[in-house]
Parts: sequence; structure tokens; C-alpha cells
Amino acid sequence: MRPADAVIDFLEAEQARGVSHIFLDEGARDGLRAWFRRSTQSPPAARIAPSSPEAVVEPPAHPAKPAAPPLQVTAEGASKAERLASLLDTLRETMVFATGNPDARVMLVGEAPGYEKEKKGEPFVGPAGQKLDDILKAMGLFRREVYISNIVKFRPATARQTTNNRKPSPVEMAACLPFIHAEIGIVRPACIIAMGGTAAEGLLGLTGTVTSMRGLWHDFKGIRVRVTYHPSYLLQSGANLSIKRQVWEDMLAVMEELGMPISARQRGFFLPKS
Ligand code: URA
Repeated sequence: MRPADAVIDFLEAEQARGVSHIFLDEGARDGLRAWFRRSTQSPPAARIAPSSPEAVVEPPAHPAKPAAPPLQVTAEGASKAERLASLLDTLRETMVFATGNPDARVMLVGEAPGYEKEKKGEPFVGPAGQKLDDILKAMGLFRREVYISNIVKFRPATARQTTNNRKPSPVEMAACLPFIHAEIGIVRPACIIAMGGTAAEGLLGLTGTVTSMRGLWHDFKGIRVRVTYHPSYLLQSGANLSIKRQVWEDMLAVMEELGMPISARQRGFFLPKS
């Protein structure tokens, strides 16, 4: 499925639920103009191939439509960086792909970029990103050492939307899942941190509360996955020490899994003072 098809699916789903107008800001209009120019100039790049080591099958298509043929995403290139760049190339200007180290041992997966992040083209650059950087720093890691991505690469604003943080629709998730699957196939991290319920749902097919998913190891194709609260939840819950400690315990588990050194001070972060 081309990104344009994902947008068409999204628009059709909105229409089916009675939405008649979608607000398009300048960035979205530019993106559509670029798609139109490309579609009238040359056929889309042949990056969707039937089989490859990174080929990933899309989950079932939107239930309102007849079953679409499974989407397979192929990444080309000799090195990990080249293959990730080739995946990025299949997306468009308004998509936010990923950032970080293709050889990272830990991959962090969030939900979807908001409008500001789309403009900057990098995931987790706003306040939630600052919180994520703080968490990484407490672990003794820098952003450049890990790989950070999102389940969904593009979150168009919908009519009457008052925030850019709406949960991605099932169509948007289904359209983007082959990309995160392919990214995981390329990076092959030792460990994945799923930040928030959308990441857990996308990667593990789990629904329910993050509370019920955290505190234990899950598996994604042989890679250990830890589910934790999204950094924006930490921002909302303010100074709630218990939430901070729970996220930190998830990070301690990841550090142990990776064999990272953990100081006594680190072990005690966010414990109530006795
Ligand atoms: N920014 C992102 O890139 N992803 C999120 O889930 C939240 C903010």
C-alpha cells in the first residue's frame, strides 16, 4: 500500500462515519501537491517486492473493505543504514520515520508524531521527547545510542480535532505496521520498549491497560519487549512518584536484560524517602 492509499483509506473511513470536511494545513497541502506531481511524472518506485528477508505481512485490512492483498515492504541496501534509508524513502515528506542508531541494542517505540514533530521530521521532539531524553539519561544512554520510532508515521488532523494526540485509527495503524516490523527486522535490537498502549497494541496485539501489560516480558518474533507508560503520561501525572517509579522499574529491567551496569543510586531512583 502506498502512503497515498493509506490516506485514501483514512478519508473513506472518515466519510463512512459521517465526516464531510477535513482540515488541511499548509504542510498537508504541500504533501498532497508533491504526491500529485510525482504521480503525474513517474510510476511509484518499485520498492514493494514479493519476498525478502525483511518482508513483512500486513495484518488484516480495514473490515469495511474487501480483503486487500497483503502488503510487503522491502528494504534495499548493503548496510543497515542504507536499508533503513530505503524504507524511509518509501514514505513521504510529511511522514516521520525514526531516529537513532541502526545498531542499537534497545529500540523504543511510541504511538505517532504530532503536527510539530511532523514538521521537524523526527520522533519525540516535543515535551514528551524531552521526558524520554531524561529517562534515557537516567539509564546512562543518549538518544543517538538507541533507536526511536513510532507505530504510526503520520497522524493527519481530523475535522474538529482539538489536539494532535488522538489515538491513531485502526486504518492508520494497519497501514504503518509493515514499516515498524521491517525496522525491527533490520535493527534486530536485543530489547524493545513499547511506550504506551498503542505501541503495545501495534507490536503485540494486546489491548487493555498499560498497567496490565507492564512488569513482565513479552515477545516479538524472539525479541524481548517491555511495555511501559508513554512519556506523555508521565507529563500528565506530574509529580506522581509511583508512576515514575513504575516506569523506572521497567527501565531497570531493560538495563538488567542488556547487562548494563546499575549503580545503587540508580536502583533507588523514585523510591519514597524513608
Ligand atoms: N512524539 C512521537 O514521536 N511519538 C509519540 O508517541 C509522542 C510524541
